[in-house]
Order: sequence, then structure tokens, then C-alpha cells
Amino acid sequence: MTDQNALKKAVAAKALEYVQDGMKLGLGSGSTAEIFVELLAPRVRGGMKLLCAPTSEKTAALARKLGLTLAPLDDLAPLDLTIDGADEADRNLDLIKGGGGMLLREKIVAAASKRMIVIADETKLVPRLGKYPLPVEVVEFGHKSIAARLAAAFAEAGYADVPMTLRQRDGAVFRTDSGNVIYDCAFGAIQNAPRLAAAISAVPGVVEHGLFIGIATTLLIATAGEVEVITR
Ligand code: A5P
Repeated sequence: MTDQNALKKAVAAKALEYVQDGMKLGLGSGSTAEIFVELLAPRVRGGMKLLCAPTSEKTAALARKLGLTLAPLDDLAPLDLTIDGADEADRNLDLIKGGGGMLLREKIVAAASKRMIVIADETKLVPRLGKYPLPVEVVEFGHKSIAARLAAAFAEAGYADVPMTLRQRDGAVFRTDSGNVIYDCAFGAIQNAPRLAAAISAVPGVVEHGLFIGIATTLLIATAGEVEVITR
């Protein structure tokens, strides 16, 4: 196991401490969240009762395979807790998510939860968000025009010439679980995340962006030897 994988496992194990019998639980996406689902499964086999709402088809398939009980979000909301990973997190508990392309469902599920615990290894903790390219999910119709409007909105918000890449996978344009496309926007450093988030959301055709502001309630960060708990 690589060092980073060991940290992912440590932080996923720590998150198990927050899961209680009878909870309605949101299941995140990405490799760290998948490790959490794998660690959760033996608890369920041991008798813990949970009803889970997954944030992606991939997580749903894994959870189903491991015997977790899934239900549609609308049957469960409000959820007691969602546990998910992040691509970047700062000490204000603001995040960039969507590296795996699941930002839309991740944000909907997190917003429908009373608490969101973010699990990450130390490489994800940053003093300022933005080094990781910000995913912006847009509808396919007119996506190049939408991207041009986004670039103008970025410039107006003080970020000129932000490199924007239409996400590809396996040689084709990447599609989200909801059939949309993603532009990865390399800001470098984001000075005022709430302002940028509002500017992005105001562009017609934008479905969602990967800035999670004021949503996470606890951040668990694994470093060698310990898991730091940062709470809002
Ligand atoms: C999925 O869309 C993302 O938001 C993931 O939560 C994020 O990419 C973290 O993934 P890893 O745990 O694989 O780094």
C-alpha cells in the first residue's frame, strides 16, 4: 500500500467513529470515500442498520456489491450525515470537489445532510483553494458559448485568462452521471471563493461548480501518525 493509500485508509477508519446505528447516511465518491464504504460494510454485516444515499453510480455499485442498503435521496432526506472526500480543503472547511466528476450529486446529497464530514489525506489541505483546477459542470447545449461567458465572468471577478479545459476521458468528452460536460478551470489561487462561486452560478447553462462553501461541518485530515479533526 502506498503512503497516500495508508493515509486514506486511516482517515476513512476515523470517519467510522461518527457513524451510528440507525443513521441515514450519504456516501461520497472518489477513492477515499470508496475505502470508507469498504470499511463500513463489515459493520453492516455485523448488524448495524443504515440507509444510504450514494453520490454516484460508481459508489452505488460498490455499496450494493458490499451489501449496503441504498434508497433514493428523496426517500431519506434529510440525511443524518454524509461522508465524502475532497480534492482540496482549507481550514475554513471550504472545499474544491469534482475531480471525479460527481460534484453535482455530491453537492445535492451534502446539502440534504445535517452534517458533512470530509475525509482526506494531508496532500489535500491547502492554505488557499485554487491550485487544483475547479470543475464547472455545464449543460452540453452551447457549452462553448457557456465557457466564453464563464471566462468573461472570471475576468469580471478579477481572474483574467484562466486556462479552461473541456474534460476528456478515454479520448472522448467526459459526461457526468447527469449527462453534462465539465470545464476544469485552473485559477491557481482563489482570493474570494464565495464571490467567485456566485459569479459562476450566475452564468446561464452552469449546472454546478466544485466550490463547496460553508457545507462541510468537520474535516478529517490524515497525516503520518494521526488524524487531525477540524470542526466548524
Ligand atoms: C469526486 O467528484 C470528487 O469530489 C472526490 O470527492 C474527490 O475527487 C476526492 O477523490 P479522492 O478521494 O479519490 O482523492
